[in-house]
Amino acid sequence: MSLHKMLRQCRGKPLRQDKDQNRMGNASEYLTSLFGLEGKTAVVIGGTGVLGGGIAETLARAGAHVLVVGRSEERGGKCVQRIQDSGGSAEFVAADSTDANDLNGIVDHLKNAGRTADVLVNGAGINSATPYLKIEEEEWARILDVNLRSVFLACQIFGKFMIEQETHGSIINIASLSGITALSRVFTYSATKAAVLNLTQNLAREWARHGIRVNALSPGFFPAEQNRKVLTPDRIQSIMRHTPMDRFGEPEELSGAVLLMAGPKSSSFLTGTNIVVDGGFSAMTI
Ligand SMILES: NC(=O)c1ccc[n+]([C@@H]2O[C@H](COP(=O)([O-])OP(=O)(O)OC[C@H]3O[C@@H](n4cnc5c(N)ncnc54)[C@H](O)[C@@H]3O)[C@@H](O)[C@H]2O)c1
Repeated sequence: MSLHKMLRQCRGKPLRQDKDQNRMGNASEYLTSLFGLEGKTAVVIGGTGVLGGGIAETLARAGAHVLVVGRSEERGGKCVQRIQDSGGSAEFVAADSTDANDLNGIVDHLKNAGRTADVLVNGAGINSATPYLKIEEEEWARILDVNLRSVFLACQIFGKFMIEQETHGSIINIASLSGITALSRVFTYSATKAAVLNLTQNLAREWARHGIRVNALSPGFFPAEQNRKVLTPDRIQSIMRHTPMDRFGEPEELSGAVLLMAGPKSSSFLTGTNIVVDGGFSAMTI
């Protein structure tokens, strides 16, 4: 086969925006066409939490109908209320992320409502600062269960649904910078996040042919529920010494990365990657 023919075959179909590339239109129309999620459904597992809740709000503001998934109806309900109060569309769905029946129930719920799963965010997580030699197997297993087995289950159950529905979805696994670098004190947590990064790459490889993109988002340090006990005064000092921006992140500072990864147009060639949002922490050496 000639080189010219091979190159032609390796090119994707031209994106619609390519046709218009020489026409400067209205900026907000352009941004909406890239990042807008009108008519899409997003499932945010762990939407009851600080970062998951912020991500749910971001996706709703971009136009998606959001399923805020978690165990606490009170917290999930508050997130849904915030979204609805600002004109967005959301509902709370009670589920334990470690329970396959609960996750299958969400898929049934979507099917009954005639919805697809266009975006899945795996954002449930727990943590512990137990010194390594004192970690008991029960604690190790509990953290693996929530942080890793949940991601395995949700990717399997929603991935299957996306493949069946041919929805060309986007899966965003919330990992952590602790998955790419050795971070003191949070041994089990870090091991789960490293595994989530590996699973993300492997599923991206596996499902590209189905049009499903799988990416990871690795936040740096953001005060939340799961790390409240881990963030002791001495720990905060050493985090700040190691963060060029010299502060914690705010949940809304994940919005840009989330919208980039969620949208079918904004990141149509982005899969298997990890976006680190950490105020420069992972770039810091001395
Ligand atoms: N906050 C940070 O600095 C930071 C940094 C890196 C990664 N992360 C990750 O971000 C994600 C969100 O965490 P967060 O920091 O907002 O903490 P958070 O504690 O505020 O939120 C975590 C949510 O997960 C829920 N959850 C825990 N176990 C669950 C289960 N079995 N089923 C359903 N829901 C369950 C919790 O109830 C909570 O609502 C987690 O994956 C966490 O590991 C957070």
